[in-house]
Amino acid sequence: MEKRSNLFDLTGKVAIVTGGSRGLGLEMAKAFAEQGAHVVIASRKLEACEQVAQALARDFGVRALPVAFHAGKWDDAQRLIETAEEAFGRIDILVNNAGSSPRYSSLTAIDEALWAKVLDLNLRGPFRLSTLAAERMHKAGGGSIINISSAGALQPSEHELPYAMAKSALHTMAAGMSRLYEGKVRINTLVPGVFQTDISKAWTDDMIQTMSGLVPMGRLGQPREIVGAALYLASDAASYTTGAVLKVDGGWAYSRG
Ligand SMILES: NC(=O)c1ccc[n+]([C@@H]2O[C@H](COP(=O)([O-])OP(=O)(O)OC[C@H]3O[C@@H](n4cnc5c(N)ncnc54)[C@H](OP(=O)(O)O)[C@@H]3O)[C@@H](O)[C@H]2O)c1
Repeated sequence: MEKRSNLFDLTGKVAIVTGGSRGLGLEMAKAFAEQGAHVVIASRKLEACEQVAQALARDFGVRALPVAFHAGKWDDAQRLIETAEEAFGRIDILVNNAGSSPRYSSLTAIDEALWAKVLDLNLRGPFRLSTLAAERMHKAGGGSIINISSAGALQPSEHELPYAMAKSALHTMAAGMSRLYEGKVRINTLVPGVFQTDISKAWTDDMIQTMSGLVPMGRLGQPREIVGAALYLASDAASYTTGAVLKVDGGWAYSRG
């Protein structure tokens, strides 16, 4: 029987990871570089991106480009895409990973500024970046876009409702966009449950225990555990997968009463 090649190989591909300097984004960028992809690390703090880019280039022998980028700003999307294109001449993978949900005391305490900030970062920016990247990927023959949603989009709580609404709109965006580009640009949604990234540093042991109790697997996710799904969606392993919603949440979403 003929030996199958490495389905997850990304040698020579170019991947942009927004929010690639920390947390899930850093793990995904590292996994892509481990598989041979050149990576663009884009977040607000350039110094953090530079440090990650240097480490990836050193450890995996790929090219890594740090770019200062605000995911909520319309014009920054264009600048990021053009910067990546100028440096590498192509874009094969885009991960819309930068995202967050600020705290608020009640739904009526949400003011217009908070609403705009959450929607800009979690939806407006990813939309602009996806459309710009998809058009270029299509012209070049194909690519993969991965939008990082949240289990909160499937099972929303009043504590992060605008964020959950923005994230659920990413599912709609992927469903709509995946019908375009003759299927050559695959656009999928990756749905993390609760992961112990920097956000969890403020959580007490009791909080972690309570949250873990809601997860069928009985524990929270470790950042490294997002990697398998990201590599799958980014690579030829997912050559027949587009418009999909892939949960990586220990079984959490839909499991609460
Ligand atoms: N961790 C979880 O439990 C969890 C659960 C569900 C969904 N998610 C989603 O997964 C993604 C990653 O979460 P995470 O926990 O890994 O986050 P994180 O550890 O807080 O890291 C966030 C990353 O995004 C960047 N970032 C934040 N705001 C940005 C902005 N306005 N423009 C550009 N970059 C920005 C940060 O860098 P700078 O500070 O330099 O900008 C950092 O690299 C997010 O979309 C989040 O909503 C996470």
